[in-house]
Amino acid sequence: MTKRKRVVVLMSGRGSNMEALMAACGEPDYPAEIVGVVANRAEAKGLETARRAGIATAAVPHRDFADRAAHEAAVSAAIAEFEPDLICLAGYMRILSAGFVRQWNGRMINIHPSLLPAFPGLHTHRRAIETGCRIHGCTVHFVTEVMDEGPIIAQAAVPVLADDTDDALSQRVLVAEHQLYPLALALVAAGSARVEDGRVVHEGAVQPQAGVARLVSPPGWREAVDLEKLARMTP
Ligand code: GAR
Repeated sequence: MTKRKRVVVLMSGRGSNMEALMAACGEPDYPAEIVGVVANRAEAKGLETARRAGIATAAVPHRDFADRAAHEAAVSAAIAEFEPDLICLAGYMRILSAGFVRQWNGRMINIHPSLLPAFPGLHTHRRAIETGCRIHGCTVHFVTEVMDEGPIIAQAAVPVLADDTDDALSQRVLVAEHQLYPLALALVAAGSARVEDGRVVHEGAVQPQAGVARLVSPPGWREAVDLEKLARMTP
């Protein structure tokens, strides 16, 4: 296989999506590897998980810096040490400046717990229940200057049940997140996801069939990524 894309994960806490990406990167034919994890909280549980797996980590606590710009400069420096090709935001709960986002344009992706453009921001599960949504889910998208906006790479949907609580629904969505993020990263790392006119075009990916209900779109990464094309790519 050609050289895997080097990925830095940015996160703030539990790190379960990071773990899902770590598991995928453990697959021999997965097109990306995690070379570093950066957190804005030293006590983030995900940092310990990454360390135990032998992944380099950096804690850059925002409380140690006078302002947002100084903190972001330190985060940028920590990221640069790892020389990544791509950045994955996985529960990174800090707003990023326009300058930072522009620097990583087309190379930074985020997972959000709703079917965007519905429910950007916080408390997405509660808002979906309160709105009376029958379907909820998660989205992986390229990061643009507007929070929780940007070209959509992949989405997964789950049902909202009549007696759902925030917790029950968030657990159901989280299971979907753990399937979706590895798929979306594979598409981006393999060069199969390209932005055209503000929308993502998947080259060589298996497209969902019209009329066939699918809960993850596009389907699983092994089918979605054109491995032959990947093999032809130069490192
Ligand atoms: C995930 O549900 C992720 O989608 C969400 O934070 C959680 C992090 O969990 N991200 C956002 O809300 C970003 N807008 P994790 O640390 O266990 O991956």
